[in-house]
Amino acid sequence: MSEPIVLGIESTCDETAAAIVQGRTLRSNVVASSMEEHARYGGVIPEIASRAHAEAFVPCVSKALADADLELSDVDAIAVSAGPGLAGCLAVGVSGAKALAWASGKPLYGINHVIGHIAVTQLQFGPFPKDTLALIVSGGHTSLLHVEDVARHIDVVGTTLDDAAGECFDKVARLLGFPYPGGPHIDRHAQHGDPHAIRVPQGLTQGKAGAKHPYDFSFSGVKTAVARWVEGEQAAGREIPVDDVCASLADSVATVLAKKAMRGCRQYDSDTLIVGGGFSANSQLRAKLLEFGRSNGVDVRIPELKLCTDNGAMVAMLGVNLVEAGVAPSVPDFAIDSAMP
Ligand code: KG4
Ligand code: ZN
Repeated sequence: MSEPIVLGIESTCDETAAAIVQGRTLRSNVVASSMEEHARYGGVIPEIASRAHAEAFVPCVSKALADADLELSDVDAIAVSAGPGLAGCLAVGVSGAKALAWASGKPLYGINHVIGHIAVTQLQFGPFPKDTLALIVSGGHTSLLHVEDVARHIDVVGTTLDDAAGECFDKVARLLGFPYPGGPHIDRHAQHGDPHAIRVPQGLTQGKAGAKHPYDFSFSGVKTAVARWVEGEQAAGREIPVDDVCASLADSVATVLAKKAMRGCRQYDSDTLIVGGGFSANSQLRAKLLEFGRSNGVDVRIPELKLCTDNGAMVAMLGVNLVEAGVAPSVPDFAIDSAMP
């Protein structure tokens, strides 16, 4: 099989998505989001998201096949996110994928959504170098990984001890009155603010003594410091300089992420940094990583915006990696794992 064709299916949170990847070529990419239905609740409501997946599953898969000019019988394998994510949401995607695999006799891979976020960069930058470092930043995860082989061996060298970077942004955004998800609003306002206007601590710049991972992250103190400052200003009756708050927060978070990633690259002798996850859409982080990458001689691979947020291409791409590596498909009755490490 020269260039495997894989159908990827994603339903971990509020996006129902399906895509076809052939080798390193994206042949179709369909995303249906229930985000607007959750906005008025200030967060994703699992029950609403699950129902939306059930409605969007068949249309998304049909469109992904049609856009690629393929029938289900033309694909070599099906891949689906099996975790981590909301259990009810995962159940819809995985059950649908199992039904498709059963009816078509195609092999099925239950994949790790978080690893998909880094695998997707191959569509833009080609295969991973062997032994590379990867930074995953999303609403639920902030992790630094040592990727020996994306299909077989990945080690965690740092993870979030409390809030993930996206979560920290979303919580501060809520305080400032932005709708969910607040990350993109902070990004936009930060572009007009002074990043040094307010002193925001950098969360955990060094590894914690005795910590399991040398590059752990912590953003809960950052969030609390910003919240205290905002509340103090409000109590004093002063107007909140929203752009400056956003710029100072964004600068603090982006700097610590970029610094630690570069330090990790040096320690693991990696001249490439793979970046992924919804938060990698953040302009301040992108700029900081590219700037630090240039001065440290590290090739920083950040996906284009549409591949940063949840999509089916990331799932299909990791599926291609598994097929290429000769990894055995998942057993037909594999379980979802909402807390998959
Ligand atoms: O990976 P993702 O789509 O979903 C999870 O698996 O968590 O990431 C969503 C997170 C949210 O916290 C959202 O606020 C954040 O990514 N995000 C951003 C931006 N775009 C998305 N945060 C800051 N700046 C952005 N431009
Ligand atoms: Zn994600």
